[in-house]
Amino acid sequence: MRTVAPARCWRYRSGPLLRYRSEGLQLGATVAQNQTMSVRILGIESSCDETAAAVVADGREILSSVVASQIDVHRKYGGVVPELASREHLRQIVPVVREALEQAKMQLGDIDAIGVTHGPGLVGALLVGITYGKTLAEALRKPLVPVNHLEGHVHAVFLEAHKSGRAPKLPAVCLIVSGGHTVLYEVTDIASAQPEMAVPQGGAALFAYRKIGQTRDDAAGEAYDKVAKLLGLGYPGGPILDRLAAATNGVPAPVKFGAIKTRGNAYDFSFSGLKTAVLYHVREHPEYVPEIRSREEALARGERKYEQLLPLCSPQTLALVREFQDAVVRDLVNRTLGAAEELSAESVLVSGGVAANSQLRSTFEERVRAKGLESFFPSRALSTDNAAMIAAAAYSRFRANEFADTSLNADPGLKLA
Ligand code: KG4
Ligand code: ZN
Repeated sequence: MRTVAPARCWRYRSGPLLRYRSEGLQLGATVAQNQTMSVRILGIESSCDETAAAVVADGREILSSVVASQIDVHRKYGGVVPELASREHLRQIVPVVREALEQAKMQLGDIDAIGVTHGPGLVGALLVGITYGKTLAEALRKPLVPVNHLEGHVHAVFLEAHKSGRAPKLPAVCLIVSGGHTVLYEVTDIASAQPEMAVPQGGAALFAYRKIGQTRDDAAGEAYDKVAKLLGLGYPGGPILDRLAAATNGVPAPVKFGAIKTRGNAYDFSFSGLKTAVLYHVREHPEYVPEIRSREEALARGERKYEQLLPLCSPQTLALVREFQDAVVRDLVNRTLGAAEELSAESVLVSGGVAANSQLRSTFEERVRAKGLESFFPSRALSTDNAAMIAAAAYSRFRANEFADTSLNADPGLKLA
């Protein structure tokens, strides 16, 4: 599949009525943008292996959120197979959007705009959501808002905080940690970073981002998935390893993993060495072989639940899993807090699939509190890929009049900063 340049975006400042354009649309179509009326955005997400749609009002209130996971399709391959992902998105996109509208008790015509992920991600997967989003926008004559998936993960934190009436103070550091990304940003209010970009009307936060560090090899979630695979614990690895690590009963670790070293930028990550250290340890200890085999047989029978796999794990395996998780958590927390300190951040935000990890959450909460700062995590449902975060991110871009036309295309390597 071909990757082409990102779509052009227009920015308009046109007072109480927002004018938007889109190729093939009659120019001058208008959208009421009254301060008292809520703006309901349909978010569409298809960048990886979740087909998701959601309706969010004013970037804050989730009216519906539907996620169709493809885990069952990719499980037997131990990772996401791009061609299968695209095919599944094609199957799921229409029913998922329909379900999101039904749950929100809305018709397509009630939507004020469509926000769609246009990168980063798998090109074929992205194209399904983009094509559907563009078609809807054209047919409904509604604006199309292109959303960076990573910005969606940042907004997931704000969506969650809003539910409990909180708002992270800026500047913040935000760690996005998932199966595809491990990246650290400084997040500031755009008005302080670039005054000319400040959103004129209130209600929508528009953030500026600066990349502080990123993984040089595997993402943290990828390391979880690979370690789980080599231990015969199935896919995805994060949730099961998280629970098994908590089941360790004070048995000493069979191997110790030291601090992960990276040369140069102190805020860059690297997890492939740790994964390889687990692999070498297992290879050097043949006593793991029978239990790995018995777990692989259990997985082949469809027995992949925690309760089914726990009895097939020796105390040594549980302690190994715990040691692996300790090393990942220690590294993510230390580097993120080091950056927070250096940048005098007011809060620490953590998002992405691995943000669902219980040890990561509790360690961050404890260490951030000890520094007199606040930490913010999305709920587990908002941590992993979803479309509510895309609709929320689209809202701030909508208020800043950033729209795409029908030339919008997938940008697999799209950067946030
Ligand atoms: O954000 P996400 O749904 O998709 C992307 O990769 O963008 O994240 C999925 C990743 C997988 O690698 C999965 O193993 C990991 O998040 N994950 C976890 C946990 N839940 C999901 N990793 C550690 N602990 C968890 N509880
Ligand atoms: Zn993601």
